[in-house]
Order: sequence, then C-alpha cells, then structure tokens
Amino acid sequence: MASVSLRSVHKKFGPITVLQSIDLDIEDGEFVVLVGPSGCGKSTLLRSIAGLETINGGEIHIGERQVNHVAPKDRDIAMVFQSYALYPHMDVRRNMGFSLNLRKSPTRMVVERVSAASTKLGLNSLLDRLPKQLSGGQRQRVAMGRAIVRNPQVFLFDEPLSNLDAKLRATMRTEIKALHQSLKTTAIYVTHDQVEAMTMANRIVVMSDGVIQQVGAPLELYDRPANIFVAGFIGSPTMNFFDAVIDGKQAGLADGSLLALPASAAVTEGQKVVIGIRPEHLHFTDTGIPGTVVVVEPLGMSTQVTLDAARERVTLLALERPVLAPGDRKHLTARPQDIHVFDRASGLRVN
Ligand SMILES: Nc1ncnc2c1ncn2[C@@H]1O[C@H](COP(=O)(O)OP(=O)(O)OP(=O)(O)O)[C@@H](O)[C@H]1O
Ligand SMILES: [Mg+2]
Repeated sequence: MASVSLRSVHKKFGPITVLQSIDLDIEDGEFVVLVGPSGCGKSTLLRSIAGLETINGGEIHIGERQVNHVAPKDRDIAMVFQSYALYPHMDVRRNMGFSLNLRKSPTRMVVERVSAASTKLGLNSLLDRLPKQLSGGQRQRVAMGRAIVRNPQVFLFDEPLSNLDAKLRATMRTEIKALHQSLKTTAIYVTHDQVEAMTMANRIVVMSDGVIQQVGAPLELYDRPANIFVAGFIGSPTMNFFDAVIDGKQAGLADGSLLALPASAAVTEGQKVVIGIRPEHLHFTDTGIPGTVVVVEPLGMSTQVTLDAARERVTLLALERPVLAPGDRKHLTARPQDIHVFDRASGLRVN
C-alpha cells in the first residue's frame, strides 16, 4: 500500500493540452473516484500514473518514490481496464498467474496467490475455463483477480463495470467496495456512474477539460458544490438552475417571482447570480414560482415531475405520490437553506 501524489502534472498530445497542472494527494489506503465528462482526461491521468503515458511536466510520487522515469512494470501498480484485456488462449488460472510468472515468481507463490484470489472472488470452479467460456461478469472477476494476485501498492480501475448490465454492476460495485475494505489497498477508480462514485469513494475528484474542479467526500460535493459545473455534474436527476438578480434579501427570477436566499449568501444588490435547487428540495406550495406540469413519472419510491417554471425546464422529486396531469398549474418553492447561490460571471459558489 502507498500514497499517491501528483504535483503540477501536465500532459499534451501533440499541441493539445489534456491535463493542466493536476495537483492531488491520495492517502495510503484511500479509495478515490475520478469523474468528469467524456474526454476530460480521466483515462489519461490513470495511464500517466501507471506509466503508460509519459507526462510533459510535473511529478508523480507513489509512496516515497518519484516514478516519472520508472517503467510501468516497476511502479508496483495493477490496472483493471473496461475491456478486461484477458489473454484469450489462456485459461482463468493462467490469466491470473500470468504477471507473476512473467516476473519469474516462485511457482509455489503463484499457486498460493491465485488460489487465495480465486477463493475471494468465487472463481474456484472456473479456473480451467477460457475467457470465451465465461460470462461478462465472470470475465470482470478474472480481471480483478489478475490485479489482486500482484498484491500491488495501488489499484487503478478504468470504468471496470461499464460493460455489465445494471444488476450485475450493482452487485460488483458492492463486492469491490467490500474487497477494498478487506485489502485496504489504495485505489483510484474512474467511472461515469453517479451511484458508483457516491457509494464507493472516500473522496471524489471532479474533472473537466483536464482541470480538477473539486475534490471532496461524496456528500460534501453533493451538499456544497464549489461551482456550477460540479453542482450540475454531481447528482441525478441533476440540480435545477435559475438565472436571477439579487433584490434585497431575495433572488428575482426571470419570470419576476422572488425566492428568499440563505442567510449565508455573500451577494450585492443587483448581482447576477445562478440559483441552484436539487429536485428533492423543490416543493409544491400555494404561492411561489408558478409552473406548468409537463410530464409525471412515477418511480415507485418517488415521483419525478417535470415542469416549466421561471423560463426553465425544472425537475421536482416528490416522495409522496402527487395526483397531477400534464398542463396542471402549480407553485414551487424551496427552503432558503436548501438553495445554492453561484455568481453568474465566475460560476463560483457564494453561500
Ligand atoms: N493517444 C492519444 N493521442 C491524441 N489524443 C489523445 C490520445 N489519447 C487521448 N487523447 C485525447 O485526450 C483527451 C482526453 O482523453 P481521455 O481518454 O483521457 O478522456 P476520458 O476522460 O477518459 O474520456 P472517456 O470518459 O470518454 O473515457 C481527449 O480529447 C482525447 O481525444
Ligand atoms: Mg476514459
């Protein structure tokens, strides 16, 4: 196990900058999840840590060691890819032991490590099969096993569950989390999945365009996003946004309705802001922002209602089961303490 620290990491492909001055300290044993839109540089960052890409500036430390010029095989990390990348002509046992055999590890150690990992992952009955004789979920487990047997300092995962169906994803997610709790190996995990990010991470790193936007515990990011980008990226359904202008202790929305602001909002009269309200924090009231129901979606545990209000398409999540039909006119409000205020020019949080 080891800490990982990135100092001003910079990466270009030809003239195009893909990672701009990335600074990040990952503690020994931590499970860090990287999220961000497609193309923002998540895989490039993982591959740089693994040594599969050469960085153009900055430093990467794994434990005490600066690894900028250390070959991938000597960095003592194990990477699990979305594609699994199993050797098709080798059975499960040989796939799992391959990297150890490549290092000429003693046969007894290989047998012991493969056996321990296959027991942990429930692969004992599949050891003689070829990858093509396995289901997607089983292949994923073999890829995990291949990483585990190396007993690395750090695990790197690049969307390892994205080829699985929703149910299997949820099972594997729980298993990977349990595995981390027992192995306690430092892990860096890339995903597109909101639920994976929220549930697995000790800390989430939100990236966009090669820049880190915010780093924090899942609920910290959810409750206090540092800017509009993070506010819109974390949470599903996404946060509602309203353009507004500060009018005394209230925010004046595009349709003229007024919303009371949280006391903590550091704003000035006439300032242009963006108001953010999560779907579960919007409520129906007698007065408030007038809206028209567009779509009602019963989800069982909750009801998702889409409305047009204050010149925006708005989502409201109700835990009760409101009786509504498209075209119904309703009023919306939120408690001041549930309102996020961002400066419109800088995009930064001001409360
Ligand atoms: N070998 C390469 N040569 C040139 N450009 C590359 C190369 N690899 C990646 N890029 C570019 O670098 C940027 C970041 O790519 P990267 O694969 O890191 O994104 P990502 O965040 O992992 O995206 P996704 O979520 O789609 O996997 C993209 O614009 C991509 O086109
Ligand atoms: Mg990627």
